[in-house]
Amino acid sequence: MARTEELDALLKEERVFRPPSRLVVGANVGPEEYAASLKVADDNPLVYWERAALELAWFKKWDTVLDETHAPFYRWFVGAQCNIVYNALDRHVDTAVKNKLALLWEGEPGDIRKFTYYELYREVNRFANAMRSLGVGKGDKVVIYMPSIPETVVSMLAAAKIGAVHTVVFGGFSAKALRSRIIDAKAKLVITVDGFYRNGRVMNLKTIVDEALIDCSAQCPDTVIVVRRAGIDVEMSEPRDLRYEDLVRQERPEALTEVMDANDPLFLLYSSGATGTPKGIVHSHGGYMVGVNRSLSWVFDIKPTDIFWCTADPGWVTGHSYLVYGPLLTGASIVMYEGHPLYPQADRLWDMVERHGVTTLYATPTLIRMLMRYGSRYPQRHDLHTLRLLGTVGEPISPEVWVWFHKHVGRGECPLLDTWWQTETGMFMIAPLPISLLKPGSVGRPLPGIEADVVDGKGNPVPPGKGGYLVIKKPWPGMLSGLLGDEDAYKDAYWTKIPGMYFAGDVARKDEDGFFWIQGRADDVLNIAGHRLGTAEFESALVAHKFADEAAVIGIPDAVKGEAAKAFIVPAAGWQDVFASREELIVTLKDHVRRELGPVASIKAVELVETLPRTRSGKILRRVLRAQELGQEVGDLSTLEENDPDRPLMPEE
Ligand code: WT7
Repeated sequence: MARTEELDALLKEERVFRPPSRLVVGANVGPEEYAASLKVADDNPLVYWERAALELAWFKKWDTVLDETHAPFYRWFVGAQCNIVYNALDRHVDTAVKNKLALLWEGEPGDIRKFTYYELYREVNRFANAMRSLGVGKGDKVVIYMPSIPETVVSMLAAAKIGAVHTVVFGGFSAKALRSRIIDAKAKLVITVDGFYRNGRVMNLKTIVDEALIDCSAQCPDTVIVVRRAGIDVEMSEPRDLRYEDLVRQERPEALTEVMDANDPLFLLYSSGATGTPKGIVHSHGGYMVGVNRSLSWVFDIKPTDIFWCTADPGWVTGHSYLVYGPLLTGASIVMYEGHPLYPQADRLWDMVERHGVTTLYATPTLIRMLMRYGSRYPQRHDLHTLRLLGTVGEPISPEVWVWFHKHVGRGECPLLDTWWQTETGMFMIAPLPISLLKPGSVGRPLPGIEADVVDGKGNPVPPGKGGYLVIKKPWPGMLSGLLGDEDAYKDAYWTKIPGMYFAGDVARKDEDGFFWIQGRADDVLNIAGHRLGTAEFESALVAHKFADEAAVIGIPDAVKGEAAKAFIVPAAGWQDVFASREELIVTLKDHVRRELGPVASIKAVELVETLPRTRSGKILRRVLRAQELGQEVGDLSTLEENDPDRPLMPEE
């Protein structure tokens, strides 16, 4: 479906779903409490967030809930001391949660590993001690290049426990992308695996780390720790490479938890923006734990008996907030899966839901669309009655896909919660609760304490039903504390487009009832299968090839991934002497980008062109290419300036 048709369908969507009464009666937050909280949060958001903070343990409480003196560098819970791992693990060991299932992991071949909270706590302590004995400590950066396996969770928690800052790099990124993150973060340690299983094959990650570390000489981390997962032979280079198993075996299962300032960094996550290379988004211990804990326990109504499955990879923010930290903060039981969702066949997910009694399934629209293609007979083969809540994130979900998931997986009885948030926000921002009225395709209303709005280029609210920029008007505790080492970039990317407001980069509409409908990115960022990739990254990878003189990349609709990348390339003179055909050149350029950026960044289509449309100042007019591609009106070209905040947002405006 073309993008405009999809938007029309979204706009005409009038179905509403009411929550089943048994859910409303049993919900953690009932309608009255919700209304009262909204009032408290509207009158005084700091009172609301302070109450949320009091639900967690602190070594020392704050002097100030929010310090705005250096805005937009907002600081939450100033003067407080804490550690998120104390809340995610340590404190549970003194309660009945100690012996509860913390993590149930299933490998692609079907092998299962289970950890109680106490077992996870002990493993984390062992690895924390091991890292300490290698000289890693407070403020040191630790790069985790790992698949979805328990040691990834252990590594994140162990790093945070000793005050180190973790940077998980998704396994789908190339050696080059990994290297630039290692160098930018000045990582002291890299943690990886020999290999892992994906779609019936063993993927080797250690060799990619080896490749990434060639030639980074003085900036190279001292140590690489290799976890054994696939059991394959890997080259161990001495004295740099160490085996995880050898290290933890020698360590004691008790470890001191570092006392952190609430604003000390917890993790860095690289994410793509409209320009340049991906930036390191920084989150801190205090505000992040408050935001994630509150948002998860309210939106997914976490109960002591829940089995919570978030299908995200730990390499993305969803994996951080709602696979690892959130569920552990709330004392829930986590399901984690290593492999491909269609392996060995299209009912793998449903089979796992049935076998493990999953109560809450949080997935992406891309995954749902992929499974939907195989029809409802796959979910029908399984008893899915344990499910009570469903969720989605990462990209707009069309009403058709929403209704399929709700009906065939959720039996028409499980509220489907579409949550809008970003790497930068750290936590859910706009999302329904299980007690909310749901409109398929809408992310509902902002959570209490979150002041979101849809505005024009000058920051004025637009009337209901009109498109505009999605902004957040007040700081929130889970927010990023900045971009690593780049104060100006932080201000420019988020706070200067519309002064005084956080600019999310999305286009949205708000309806008469105040429900938000997200339409996609307003900037040059693509959302491919829920993964954020800047057009600038593709383009710079392309022009690095000697047979691509100029390149422009746009997003085109894709039935499964939501969006795919299409490149317009001006080939270098003389290419015909080297390549037998246009196709041969195109395949070469596509392969080149895959090698440069990694399999996550594949280009679907390439068109060789003679020139690219540009502004007078030389900027590429991707808008023109997009309009031509989708057969839309090109619109007013008189300004010929991309990224002009006054330019029309919607094709019909
Ligand atoms: C971008 C953020 C938040 C975790 C995953 C992505 C898009 C996110 C939704 C949603 C429509 C969504 C936005 C946003 N997005 N959630 N429920 N409906 N679009 O995190 O990589 O930081 O990407 O994902 O465009 O800006 P991210």
